[in-house]
Amino acid sequence: MTKAATQFISPLTFQALSAHPVHTELLDADQENAMGHINLARWADLLLIAPATANSLAKFSYGLADDLLSTLYLAVECPVYIAPAMNQAMWYKPATQENIQRLTRHGVTFIGPDEGSQACGDIGPGRMTEPEAIVQSLKLQNSPGILQGTKVLLTAGPTREQLDPVRFISNRSSGKMGYALAEQAQRLGAQVTLISGPVAIPAPKHVQTFFVQSAAEMYDTVMQHMAGQDIMIAAAAVADYTPELVQTEKIKKQNEKTELNLRKTKDIVASVAKLDNRPFTVGFAAETQNLEHYAQDKLRRKNLDMIAANWVGQAEGGFDSDCNALQVYWENGQQTFTITDKPQLARQLLALIAERFHA
Ligand code: C5P
Repeated sequence: MTKAATQFISPLTFQALSAHPVHTELLDADQENAMGHINLARWADLLLIAPATANSLAKFSYGLADDLLSTLYLAVECPVYIAPAMNQAMWYKPATQENIQRLTRHGVTFIGPDEGSQACGDIGPGRMTEPEAIVQSLKLQNSPGILQGTKVLLTAGPTREQLDPVRFISNRSSGKMGYALAEQAQRLGAQVTLISGPVAIPAPKHVQTFFVQSAAEMYDTVMQHMAGQDIMIAAAAVADYTPELVQTEKIKKQNEKTELNLRKTKDIVASVAKLDNRPFTVGFAAETQNLEHYAQDKLRRKNLDMIAANWVGQAEGGFDSDCNALQVYWENGQQTFTITDKPQLARQLLALIAERFHA
């Protein structure tokens, strides 16, 4: 309980009703090493904060740890669920909404709030979801997932092909789609290995992640971790070409025109699809034109089990966007996923992959 919570209800009441000890202090003199928050953080399979005030959301969002609850939030490595409760105007405030978005990006799952009449007399969103509904939601989200027992290897992000000590060739991939797939696959029960190019977003929680720079490094790292994988999802925007020579000194500006010699990189997903004991192999196709034609061609040429195609270079969706739409093809089948946020889209695509993988 936070200090504010104890002003509403005494810890003793909670203890008597729940028949469990109530923790209120950051440094607990009764604990052997006085590190109660670390013990609690290690002990939990998941952390549910219900009700969570606007103040607590702000603290979690910015990593403040000045009481037991906020320190516990920072210290846990398990999944975190938050059921907010506050006045409707506080809920609508941009600061609160931004904190919710930040926390969602940090991997927190929100339950509610509900709408209705509030303790303060207002009507609107901000009522804590009913406890039975919260428990129901937790059960649903933590029941053995559709990827339980499977090993999934993912590539994500761009690659960097070095030209000289200060320059490289890369692309606009943000890694958001691959990271969303990694995080959601883990939540659906898979054991996930992520091989990522350089990105600016935080690594997904509970996912073994290896960072690489070049296409060649990504190829080697994927191959090192390929044994025993059930599903491979190649969401990385791997460079198709790499400089033939990496200059050891910075290339100097001299002539009006200059030439760059590039050679093809090894196709990672196509190489995986050629392995004996190959996993169920899924590729991506980011296109600016002839989406279906190019996607179908890649599906066959790279010998993939499935390909997820999306438009890039448009205002909405694609590279660097938080939203995306996908057109998915496999032998004798296709499915459209309309534009939605990447975590949601990742769940839809993974459900389809799980269905085809088990088929
Ligand atoms: O041929 P293209 O690069 O458009 O194909 C895209 C698909 O192939 C993506 O799934 C991408 O991750 C994968 N790819 C790869 N290795 C490469 C190039 C592309 O795995 N060298």
